[in-house]
Amino acid sequence: MIWYIVGGVGILSLISICFPSLYGGAWSPSRMRLVRKMLKMAELKPGETLIDLGAGDGRVILTAAREFGAKAIGVEIDPVRLQICKTRASALGLDSLVTVSWGNFFEMDMSAADVVSFYLSQAAADKLADKLRKELKPGARVVSNRRPMPGWDAEKVDRLDRLYVYRVT
Ligand SMILES: C[S@@+](CC[C@H](N)C(=O)[O-])C[C@H]1O[C@@H](n2cnc3c(N)ncnc32)[C@H](O)[C@@H]1O
Repeated sequence: MIWYIVGGVGILSLISICFPSLYGGAWSPSRMRLVRKMLKMAELKPGETLIDLGAGDGRVILTAAREFGAKAIGVEIDPVRLQICKTRASALGLDSLVTVSWGNFFEMDMSAADVVSFYLSQAAADKLADKLRKELKPGARVVSNRRPMPGWDAEKVDRLDRLYVYRVT
């Protein structure tokens, strides 16, 4: 019996830690203070659409919907975190403002976004730089926790907390 439990925990850890690391970064939540700061720096407004790339436990999308009145979309590759996001959104009564789906954001169309947020590996930020430039509309903002985007000029930088905001012109 114990071996089934150990095996199950091992498989879940593999899915939750190793698998996302290969795609864009393992789960490590942004601190709530930084989530709010990121959304403020990105000037997220009520009714705007935010997409969080790698939604984790949902803290960015839930804050965007609850505190900023935005329509928030999350995409998450880890099915365990995905379920956590969905459960939290429903428990908070935010189903009408929040959508979370399972998938790889590199395969997602981001053209609907007014704001894109992420906290990922630097390799993922490097890879996203071209995709975001092609897909985002003028006026859209990108806010990144810790990772600068190569080839983009930051509109705002918080050097202390290592937050970067970019605007599509
Ligand atoms: C560092 S966590 C950030 C979570 C959340 N955005 C936050 O700021 O608290 C990165 C998340 O991205 C997810 N992830 C990594 N690569 C991904 C990909 N290619 N597509 C979708 N989700 C991905 C991971 O599973 C993890 O939950």
